[in-house]
Amino acid sequence: MAPNSQNPRVLSGMRPTGQLHLGNYHGALRNWVDLQYQYECYFFVADWHALTTGYEDTSSLEDHVWQMVIDWLGAGLNPGACTLFIQSRVPEHAELHLLLSMMTPLGWLERVPTYKDQQEQLRERDLATYGFLGYPLLQSADILVYQTKYVPVGEDQIAHVEITREVARRFNHLYGREPDFEQKVERALKQLGARNATLYKSLRKAYQEQGDADSLKQAHALIESNNHLVLADRERLLGFLDGTGRVILVEPEVLLTQTPKVPGLDGRKMSKSYGNTIGLREDPDEVARKLKTMQTDPARVRRTDPGDPDKCPVFDLHRIYSTPETREWAAGNCRTAGIGCLECKKPLIDEIVAEIRTIRERAREYEDNPELVRGIISEGCDKARDVARATLEEVRAAMGLEYR
Ligand code: TRP
Ligand code: SF4
Repeated sequence: MAPNSQNPRVLSGMRPTGQLHLGNYHGALRNWVDLQYQYECYFFVADWHALTTGYEDTSSLEDHVWQMVIDWLGAGLNPGACTLFIQSRVPEHAELHLLLSMMTPLGWLERVPTYKDQQEQLRERDLATYGFLGYPLLQSADILVYQTKYVPVGEDQIAHVEITREVARRFNHLYGREPDFEQKVERALKQLGARNATLYKSLRKAYQEQGDADSLKQAHALIESNNHLVLADRERLLGFLDGTGRVILVEPEVLLTQTPKVPGLDGRKMSKSYGNTIGLREDPDEVARKLKTMQTDPARVRRTDPGDPDKCPVFDLHRIYSTPETREWAAGNCRTAGIGCLECKKPLIDEIVAEIRTIRERAREYEDNPELVRGIISEGCDKARDVARATLEEVRAAMGLEYR
Protein backbone atom coordinates (compact mmCIF):
# COMPACT_ATOMS: atom_id res chain seq x y z
CA MET A 1 0.00 0.00 0.00
CA ALA A 2 1.24 3.50 -0.75
CA PRO A 3 2.69 5.38 2.21
CA ASN A 4 0.04 8.05 1.95
CA SER A 5 -2.83 5.65 1.52
CA GLN A 6 -5.85 6.15 3.71
CA ASN A 7 -5.24 3.10 5.82
CA PRO A 8 -3.20 4.23 8.82
CA ARG A 9 0.04 2.44 9.50
CA VAL A 10 0.44 0.32 12.61
CA LEU A 11 3.73 -1.00 13.94
CA SER A 12 4.72 -3.12 16.87
CA GLY A 13 7.65 -5.25 17.90
CA MET A 14 8.36 -8.12 20.25
CA ARG A 15 11.62 -9.24 21.75
CA PRO A 16 12.60 -12.74 20.66
CA THR A 17 12.12 -14.77 23.82
CA GLY A 18 11.80 -18.13 22.09
CA GLN A 19 8.60 -20.13 22.13
CA LEU A 20 5.72 -17.96 23.20
CA HIS A 21 3.16 -18.78 25.88
CA LEU A 22 -0.44 -17.88 26.61
CA GLY A 23 0.70 -14.74 28.42
CA ASN A 24 2.37 -13.43 25.27
CA TYR A 25 -0.64 -14.44 23.24
CA HIS A 26 -3.24 -12.60 25.30
CA GLY A 27 -0.88 -9.75 26.09
CA ALA A 28 -0.15 -8.80 22.49
CA LEU A 29 -0.26 -11.37 19.74
CA ARG A 30 -4.01 -11.97 19.71
CA ASN A 31 -4.49 -8.25 19.29
CA TRP A 32 -2.04 -8.12 16.38
CA VAL A 33 -3.98 -10.85 14.64
CA ASP A 34 -7.12 -8.68 14.81
CA LEU A 35 -5.32 -5.51 13.76
CA GLN A 36 -3.81 -6.95 10.59
CA TYR A 37 -7.20 -6.81 8.89
CA GLN A 38 -7.95 -3.25 9.99
CA TYR A 39 -4.70 -1.38 9.32
CA GLU A 40 -1.55 -1.50 7.28
CA CYS A 41 0.44 -3.49 9.82
CA TYR A 42 4.16 -4.00 10.35
CA PHE A 43 5.25 -6.46 13.02
CA PHE A 44 8.88 -7.12 13.74
CA VAL A 45 11.23 -9.22 15.81
CA ALA A 46 13.07 -6.76 18.04
CA ASP A 47 16.35 -8.68 18.05
CA TRP A 48 18.54 -5.64 18.73
CA HIS A 49 16.33 -4.85 21.68
CA ALA A 50 17.04 -8.32 23.04
CA LEU A 51 20.72 -7.40 23.06
CA THR A 52 20.17 -4.37 25.27
CA THR A 53 19.70 -6.71 28.22
CA GLY A 54 21.02 -10.00 26.84
CA TYR A 55 24.30 -9.10 25.20
CA GLU A 56 26.45 -11.60 27.08
CA ASP A 57 25.09 -14.84 25.77
CA THR A 58 23.67 -14.68 22.27
CA SER A 59 23.82 -18.39 21.56
CA SER A 60 20.06 -18.94 21.52
CA LEU A 61 19.13 -15.71 19.79
CA GLU A 62 18.77 -17.19 16.33
CA ASP A 63 16.63 -20.07 17.50
CA HIS A 64 14.48 -17.70 19.55
CA VAL A 65 13.91 -15.50 16.52
CA TRP A 66 12.65 -18.32 14.33
CA GLN A 67 10.60 -20.01 17.05
CA MET A 68 8.84 -16.75 17.72
CA VAL A 69 8.08 -16.17 14.07
CA ILE A 70 6.60 -19.67 13.83
CA ASP A 71 4.41 -18.89 16.84
CA TRP A 72 3.26 -15.68 15.17
CA LEU A 73 2.27 -17.58 12.05
CA GLY A 74 0.67 -20.32 14.09
CA ALA A 75 -1.36 -17.77 16.03
CA GLY A 76 -2.74 -16.45 12.76
CA LEU A 77 -0.57 -13.57 11.60
CA ASN A 78 -1.09 -13.75 7.89
CA PRO A 79 1.83 -12.70 5.69
CA GLY A 80 -0.70 -11.82 3.01
CA ALA A 81 -2.30 -9.26 5.31
CA CYS A 82 0.63 -7.81 7.28
CA THR A 83 4.36 -7.33 6.95
CA LEU A 84 6.59 -9.47 9.17
CA PHE A 85 10.27 -8.71 9.48
CA ILE A 86 13.37 -8.71 11.66
CA GLN A 87 14.74 -5.45 13.02
CA SER A 88 18.41 -6.13 12.36
CA ARG A 89 17.68 -6.82 8.71
CA VAL A 90 16.54 -3.22 8.26
CA PRO A 91 19.68 -1.24 9.13
CA GLU A 92 17.82 2.04 8.68
CA HIS A 93 16.56 1.55 12.26
CA ALA A 94 20.16 1.88 13.40
CA GLU A 95 20.91 4.87 11.21
CA LEU A 96 17.88 6.76 12.45
CA HIS A 97 18.69 5.79 16.02
CA LEU A 98 22.17 7.25 15.62
CA LEU A 99 20.92 10.48 14.09
CA LEU A 100 18.25 10.92 16.75
CA SER A 101 20.82 10.25 19.46
CA MET A 102 22.57 13.48 18.49
CA MET A 103 19.59 15.61 19.50
CA THR A 104 18.09 13.63 22.37
CA PRO A 105 18.82 15.09 25.80
CA LEU A 106 20.22 12.52 28.22
CA GLY A 107 17.62 13.50 30.80
CA TRP A 108 14.80 12.27 28.58
CA LEU A 109 16.27 8.79 28.60
CA GLU A 110 17.20 8.74 32.27
CA ARG A 111 13.65 9.74 33.12
CA VAL A 112 11.99 6.78 31.37
CA PRO A 113 10.50 4.69 34.20
CA THR A 114 11.65 1.33 32.80
CA TYR A 115 15.28 2.48 32.95
CA LYS A 116 15.72 2.34 36.71
CA ASP A 117 13.06 -0.34 37.24
CA GLN A 118 14.67 -2.86 34.96
CA GLN A 119 18.14 -2.15 36.24
CA GLU A 120 16.87 -3.01 39.69
CA GLN A 121 14.92 -6.07 38.54
CA LEU A 122 17.80 -7.50 36.53
CA ARG A 123 20.44 -6.80 39.14
CA GLU A 124 22.48 -9.85 38.19
CA ARG A 125 23.26 -8.24 34.83
CA ASP A 126 25.37 -5.19 34.24
CA LEU A 127 22.95 -2.78 32.65
CA ALA A 128 25.01 0.33 33.12
CA THR A 129 25.56 0.35 29.37
CA TYR A 130 25.11 2.88 26.64
CA GLY A 131 22.81 0.52 24.71
CA PHE A 132 20.49 -0.05 27.63
CA LEU A 133 20.10 3.66 28.30
CA GLY A 134 19.40 4.18 24.60
CA TYR A 135 16.80 1.42 24.41
CA PRO A 136 13.77 3.75 24.31
CA LEU A 137 15.41 5.81 21.60
CA LEU A 138 16.01 2.70 19.52
CA GLN A 139 12.32 2.01 19.97
CA SER A 140 11.58 5.56 18.83
CA ALA A 141 13.62 4.96 15.71
CA ASP A 142 11.70 1.69 15.11
CA ILE A 143 8.46 3.60 15.21
CA LEU A 144 9.45 6.78 13.40
CA VAL A 145 11.24 5.10 10.52
CA TYR A 146 7.85 3.79 9.30
CA GLN A 147 5.92 7.03 9.80
CA THR A 148 3.80 4.97 12.16
CA LYS A 149 0.42 6.30 13.16
CA TYR A 150 -0.55 3.76 15.82
CA VAL A 151 1.57 1.63 18.13
CA PRO A 152 -0.36 -1.23 19.75
CA VAL A 153 1.31 -1.87 23.10
CA GLY A 154 0.41 -2.51 26.70
CA GLU A 155 0.49 -0.07 29.58
CA ASP A 156 4.18 -0.68 30.30
CA GLN A 157 5.21 0.77 26.95
CA ILE A 158 3.26 4.03 27.03
CA ALA A 159 6.28 6.00 28.25
CA HIS A 160 8.26 4.78 25.24
CA VAL A 161 5.68 6.03 22.78
CA GLU A 162 5.52 9.29 24.69
CA ILE A 163 9.25 9.87 24.35
CA THR A 164 8.95 8.97 20.67
CA ARG A 165 6.48 11.81 20.25
CA GLU A 166 8.85 14.21 21.97
CA VAL A 167 11.74 13.12 19.80
CA ALA A 168 9.67 13.53 16.61
CA ARG A 169 8.56 16.98 17.69
CA ARG A 170 12.10 18.01 18.45
CA PHE A 171 13.34 16.70 15.12
CA ASN A 172 10.61 18.50 13.20
CA HIS A 173 11.27 21.66 15.14
CA LEU A 174 14.99 21.55 14.38
CA TYR A 175 14.88 20.39 10.77
CA GLY A 176 11.39 21.13 9.51
CA ARG A 177 12.05 24.84 9.23
CA GLU A 178 12.46 26.32 5.79
CA PRO A 179 13.12 30.00 5.07
CA ASP A 180 10.43 30.13 2.38
CA PHE A 181 8.03 27.80 4.21
CA GLU A 182 4.86 29.83 3.68
CA GLN A 183 5.44 30.22 -0.07
CA LYS A 184 6.05 26.53 -0.38
CA VAL A 185 2.80 25.90 1.48
CA GLU A 186 0.98 28.12 -1.02
CA ARG A 187 2.46 26.14 -3.89
CA ALA A 188 1.58 22.84 -2.24
CA LEU A 189 -2.00 24.03 -1.77
CA LYS A 190 -2.30 24.50 -5.53
CA GLN A 191 -1.52 20.80 -5.90
CA LEU A 192 -4.53 19.99 -3.76
CA GLY A 193 -7.02 21.48 -6.19
CA ALA A 194 -9.26 24.46 -5.48
CA ARG A 195 -11.99 22.63 -3.58
CA ASN A 196 -9.71 20.72 -1.26
CA ALA A 197 -7.53 23.77 -0.73
CA THR A 198 -10.56 25.74 0.45
CA LEU A 199 -11.60 22.90 2.72
CA TYR A 200 -8.07 22.64 4.11
CA LYS A 201 -7.98 26.36 4.88
CA SER A 202 -11.32 26.35 6.66
CA LEU A 203 -10.41 23.28 8.71
CA ARG A 204 -7.10 24.86 9.67
CA LYS A 205 -8.88 28.02 10.69
CA ALA A 206 -11.39 26.11 12.82
CA TYR A 207 -8.52 24.35 14.54
CA GLN A 208 -6.34 27.41 15.05
CA GLU A 209 -9.08 29.81 16.08
CA GLN A 210 -11.42 27.53 18.01
CA GLY A 211 -9.06 24.71 18.90
CA ASP A 212 -11.41 22.28 17.20
CA ALA A 213 -9.52 18.97 17.39
CA ASP A 214 -11.95 17.30 15.05
CA SER A 215 -11.12 19.77 12.31
CA LEU A 216 -7.44 19.04 12.79
CA LYS A 217 -8.15 15.35 12.41
CA GLN A 218 -10.17 15.93 9.26
CA ALA A 219 -7.47 18.12 7.81
CA HIS A 220 -4.88 15.42 8.51
CA ALA A 221 -7.05 12.85 6.79
CA LEU A 222 -7.54 15.16 3.83
CA ILE A 223 -3.80 15.46 3.34
CA GLU A 224 -2.93 11.89 4.11
CA SER A 225 -5.44 10.49 1.66
CA ASN A 226 -4.25 12.68 -1.18
CA ASN A 227 -2.26 10.65 -3.67
CA HIS A 228 -1.08 13.55 -5.81
CA LEU A 229 1.11 15.31 -3.30
CA VAL A 230 4.83 14.64 -3.23
CA LEU A 231 6.10 13.71 0.20
CA ALA A 232 7.72 17.07 0.97
CA ASP A 233 4.52 18.96 0.17
CA ARG A 234 2.52 16.59 2.29
CA GLU A 235 4.90 17.27 5.17
CA ARG A 236 4.53 21.01 4.65
CA LEU A 237 0.75 20.92 4.64
CA LEU A 238 0.67 18.75 7.74
CA GLY A 239 3.15 21.04 9.46
CA PHE A 240 1.26 24.18 8.48
CA LEU A 241 -1.75 22.96 10.44
CA ASP A 242 0.10 23.62 13.70
CA GLY A 243 2.18 26.34 12.13
CA THR A 244 5.55 24.85 13.09
CA GLY A 245 7.13 23.84 9.82
CA ARG A 246 7.30 20.58 7.92
CA VAL A 247 6.34 17.36 9.66
CA ILE A 248 9.14 15.05 8.64
CA LEU A 249 8.62 12.50 11.38
CA VAL A 250 5.05 11.63 12.29
CA GLU A 251 4.09 11.67 15.96
CA PRO A 252 2.66 8.23 16.77
CA GLU A 253 -0.16 7.39 19.12
CA VAL A 254 -0.58 4.47 21.47
CA LEU A 255 -3.26 1.98 20.55
CA LEU A 256 -3.66 0.61 24.04
CA THR A 257 -4.00 -3.15 24.16
CA GLN A 258 -6.40 -4.39 26.81
CA THR A 259 -4.23 -6.96 28.47
CA PRO A 260 -6.05 -9.44 30.66
CA LYS A 261 -4.24 -10.85 33.64
CA VAL A 262 -2.87 -14.21 32.53
CA PRO A 263 -1.93 -16.29 35.56
CA GLY A 264 0.75 -18.92 35.38
CA LEU A 265 0.39 -22.43 36.75
CA ASP A 266 1.63 -21.36 40.19
CA GLY A 267 -0.74 -18.40 40.40
CA ARG A 268 1.90 -15.76 39.73
CA LYS A 269 1.90 -13.85 36.46
CA MET A 270 2.68 -16.19 33.56
CA SER A 271 6.31 -15.63 32.67
CA LYS A 272 9.11 -17.64 31.17
CA SER A 273 11.42 -16.71 34.03
CA TYR A 274 9.03 -18.26 36.57
CA GLY A 275 8.77 -21.53 34.65
CA ASN A 276 4.98 -21.47 35.04
CA THR A 277 3.90 -21.20 31.42
CA ILE A 278 1.68 -22.97 28.94
CA GLY A 279 3.34 -22.86 25.54
CA LEU A 280 1.40 -21.94 22.44
CA ARG A 281 2.51 -25.11 20.69
CA GLU A 282 2.62 -27.48 23.62
CA ASP A 283 1.32 -31.01 23.39
CA PRO A 284 -2.41 -30.95 24.24
CA ASP A 285 -2.14 -33.83 26.72
CA GLU A 286 0.64 -32.01 28.49
CA VAL A 287 -1.45 -28.83 28.55
CA ALA A 288 -4.38 -30.70 30.08
CA ARG A 289 -2.10 -32.30 32.65
CA LYS A 290 -0.59 -28.95 33.63
CA LEU A 291 -3.99 -27.32 34.01
CA LYS A 292 -5.25 -30.17 36.18
CA THR A 293 -2.49 -29.47 38.68
CA MET A 294 -2.73 -25.70 38.44
CA GLN A 295 -2.90 -23.73 41.69
CA THR A 296 -6.42 -22.81 42.87
CA ASP A 297 -7.71 -20.76 45.79
CA PRO A 298 -5.25 -21.84 48.50
CA ALA A 299 -8.03 -21.66 51.12
CA ARG A 300 -9.93 -24.42 49.34
CA VAL A 301 -8.17 -27.42 50.80
CA ARG A 302 -10.94 -30.03 50.87
CA ARG A 303 -13.65 -30.61 48.31
CA THR A 304 -16.22 -29.50 50.90
CA ASP A 305 -14.48 -26.15 51.59
CA PRO A 306 -16.11 -23.25 49.78
CA GLY A 307 -13.74 -21.20 47.63
CA ASP A 308 -13.37 -17.61 46.50
CA PRO A 309 -13.08 -17.15 42.72
CA ASP A 310 -11.44 -13.75 43.25
CA LYS A 311 -8.56 -15.46 45.00
CA CYS A 312 -8.22 -18.21 42.43
CA PRO A 313 -5.88 -17.97 39.43
CA VAL A 314 -7.96 -20.55 37.58
CA PHE A 315 -10.85 -18.16 37.69
CA ASP A 316 -8.71 -15.53 35.95
CA LEU A 317 -8.52 -17.99 33.09
CA HIS A 318 -12.30 -18.33 33.15
CA ARG A 319 -12.45 -14.56 32.72
CA ILE A 320 -10.48 -14.91 29.50
CA TYR A 321 -11.89 -18.11 28.04
CA SER A 322 -15.38 -18.75 29.33
CA THR A 323 -18.81 -17.49 28.37
CA PRO A 324 -20.63 -15.45 31.03
CA GLU A 325 -22.82 -18.49 31.76
CA THR A 326 -19.89 -20.79 32.40
CA ARG A 327 -18.23 -18.10 34.47
CA GLU A 328 -21.30 -17.72 36.65
CA TRP A 329 -21.63 -21.45 36.98
CA ALA A 330 -18.02 -21.70 38.13
CA ALA A 331 -18.15 -18.74 40.53
CA GLY A 332 -21.47 -19.71 42.09
CA ASN A 333 -20.56 -23.33 42.61
CA CYS A 334 -17.13 -22.43 43.89
CA ARG A 335 -18.59 -20.29 46.67
CA THR A 336 -21.04 -23.01 47.73
CA ALA A 337 -18.60 -25.88 47.22
CA GLY A 338 -21.11 -27.18 44.68
CA ILE A 339 -18.35 -28.37 42.38
CA GLY A 340 -14.81 -29.54 42.85
CA CYS A 341 -11.87 -27.70 41.32
CA LEU A 342 -11.29 -30.35 38.71
CA GLU A 343 -14.88 -30.03 37.55
CA CYS A 344 -14.47 -26.28 37.44
CA LYS A 345 -11.37 -26.61 35.30
CA LYS A 346 -12.95 -29.00 32.81
CA PRO A 347 -14.58 -26.47 30.44
CA LEU A 348 -11.44 -24.35 30.61
CA ILE A 349 -9.21 -27.23 29.69
CA ASP A 350 -11.43 -27.90 26.68
CA GLU A 351 -11.21 -24.30 25.50
CA ILE A 352 -7.48 -23.92 25.98
CA VAL A 353 -6.64 -27.25 24.44
CA ALA A 354 -8.78 -26.43 21.41
CA GLU A 355 -7.06 -23.07 21.02
CA ILE A 356 -3.61 -24.59 21.26
CA ARG A 357 -4.56 -27.36 18.84
CA THR A 358 -5.47 -24.77 16.22
CA ILE A 359 -2.21 -22.91 16.71
CA ARG A 360 -0.18 -26.12 16.62
CA GLU A 361 -1.81 -27.28 13.45
CA ARG A 362 -1.28 -23.98 11.70
CA ALA A 363 2.33 -23.88 12.88
CA ARG A 364 3.15 -27.38 11.70
CA GLU A 365 3.41 -26.38 8.06
CA TYR A 366 6.03 -23.79 9.02
CA GLU A 367 7.91 -26.09 11.39
CA ASP A 368 8.23 -28.59 8.59
CA ASN A 369 9.33 -26.00 6.10
CA PRO A 370 11.90 -23.51 7.44
CA GLU A 371 12.48 -22.20 3.93
CA LEU A 372 8.90 -21.04 3.80
CA VAL A 373 9.39 -19.05 7.00
CA ARG A 374 12.62 -17.54 5.74
CA GLY A 375 10.92 -16.55 2.51
CA ILE A 376 8.10 -14.79 4.35
CA ILE A 377 10.59 -12.87 6.46
CA SER A 378 12.80 -11.98 3.50
CA GLU A 379 9.86 -10.57 1.66
CA GLY A 380 8.76 -8.65 4.75
CA CYS A 381 12.26 -7.24 5.29
CA ASP A 382 12.38 -6.01 1.69
CA LYS A 383 9.04 -4.32 2.03
CA ALA A 384 9.91 -2.75 5.36
CA ARG A 385 13.22 -1.56 3.99
CA ASP A 386 11.58 0.27 1.11
CA VAL A 387 9.52 2.30 3.56
CA ALA A 388 12.44 2.85 5.94
CA ARG A 389 14.72 3.94 3.10
CA ALA A 390 12.27 6.58 1.95
CA THR A 391 12.09 8.03 5.46
CA LEU A 392 15.86 8.11 5.79
CA GLU A 393 16.16 9.95 2.51
CA GLU A 394 13.84 12.62 3.88
CA VAL A 395 15.68 12.70 7.17
CA ARG A 396 19.11 13.03 5.56
CA ALA A 397 17.87 15.75 3.24
CA ALA A 398 16.30 17.70 6.11
CA MET A 399 19.51 17.45 8.12
CA GLY A 400 21.70 18.51 5.24
CA LEU A 401 23.33 15.11 4.80
CA GLU A 402 22.37 14.58 1.21
CA TYR A 403 25.78 14.91 -0.35
CA ARG A 404 27.11 11.67 -1.78
N1 TRP B 1 9.97 -2.47 23.84
C1 TRP B 1 8.96 -3.39 23.40
C2 TRP B 1 8.76 -4.46 24.46
O1 TRP B 1 9.65 -4.72 25.24
C3 TRP B 1 9.31 -4.04 22.09
C4 TRP B 1 9.50 -3.03 21.01
C5 TRP B 1 10.68 -2.66 20.46
C6 TRP B 1 8.48 -2.27 20.38
N2 TRP B 1 10.48 -1.72 19.48
C7 TRP B 1 9.15 -1.45 19.42
C8 TRP B 1 7.09 -2.18 20.52
C9 TRP B 1 8.45 -0.55 18.62
C10 TRP B 1 6.40 -1.28 19.74
C11 TRP B 1 7.06 -0.47 18.79
O2 TRP B 1 7.69 -5.04 24.50
FE1 SF4 C 1 -10.83 -21.95 41.63
FE2 SF4 C 1 -12.82 -23.14 40.36
FE3 SF4 C 1 -11.63 -24.30 42.47
FE4 SF4 C 1 -13.14 -22.17 42.82
S1 SF4 C 1 -13.80 -24.16 42.07
S2 SF4 C 1 -11.12 -22.53 43.72
S3 SF4 C 1 -12.72 -21.00 40.96
S4 SF4 C 1 -10.71 -23.84 40.47
